[in-house]
Parts: sequence; C-alpha cells; structure tokens
Amino acid sequence: MADFDWKKQKIAIGCDHAGFDLKQEIVAYLKKLEIDCYDFGVFDRSPADYPSIAKEVALAVADHEFDKGIIICGSGLGVCIVANKVVGIRAVTCHETYSARMSRTHNDANVLTMGARVIGVDLAKDVVLTWLKTEFEGGRHQVRVSMIEGN
Ligand code: RB5
Repeated sequence: MADFDWKKQKIAIGCDHAGFDLKQEIVAYLKKLEIDCYDFGVFDRSPADYPSIAKEVALAVADHEFDKGIIICGSGLGVCIVANKVVGIRAVTCHETYSARMSRTHNDANVLTMGARVIGVDLAKDVVLTWLKTEFEGGRHQVRVSMIEGN
C-alpha cells in the first residue's frame, strides 16, 4: 500500500516480570523513533502472571485501539499462546529478523512477542524495527490470512 507510513502506527506494549528490563529498552527505543506507544506494564520486576498482561494487550489490538502490539516475557512463548486465543490476533514469536519480516509480509502478524531470556537488546531492537517497517503483501496472502479466521 502506497500510503503505509510505519511511523504513524499506534503500538501497545506489555510484559511480565521476566520481560520488564527488555520492555523498558523497547519503550525507550520506540520513543526515540517517535512512535506512539502505550505501556500496559508491568512496571517493576515483581512476579506477574503473563496471561493477564498478554490478554490485555491482545484485546486492545483486537479492538483496534492500537495498530499492533508487542509483548515480552521470559521465553516469548506463553504470551504468544495467550494472545493467539483472542479472535483477530495473529501473534508471532520472533527472535531474528527473517521471521519478523515474513510474519508481516505473509501472515499480517499484529502482535510480536519476544523472550527477554532468549534475545539480546540490540537484536530485539532490530527485530522490532523490521517488524514495524514491513508491510503486509496482501493478494494471495490476504486469502490465506482470511482463512485463519474461517473466512
Ligand atoms: C516466567 O518465569 C516465565 O514463565 C514467563 O516469563 C514466560 O516465559 C512464559 O512463557
């Protein structure tokens, strides 16, 4: 789409205790990029249940309050499982840029999850940048993405 302006996206972000430090880094990075981002927490390292925060972020994206969501836990996996239970969410765990790019071009992923115990800060920033900048290709991929929801 010619009018895709990746900087104009509204992003919801959240994490559990294990993802807190990386989430802080990513929030600061998004601010530096001047991307509109709302932080659903958590806001410290006290033990937190990842299903609650992941569901909150996923629902906000599914309700179109935000264009996309980013959720960080220890592995990136639990929050991805939870987010994908929400109708309309296509969540992916990406720890390298190829998957981040493909999840956008072919799958129109609207939630990115990462594991703070898996990925370093610099690579996580690259993954986020790639994921946000990459546009969905549509066409034959739109047909397949529609099939995900049974359409
Ligand atoms: C917390 O220890 C950890 O289980 C959580 O962050 C996440 O990795 C779950 O999938």
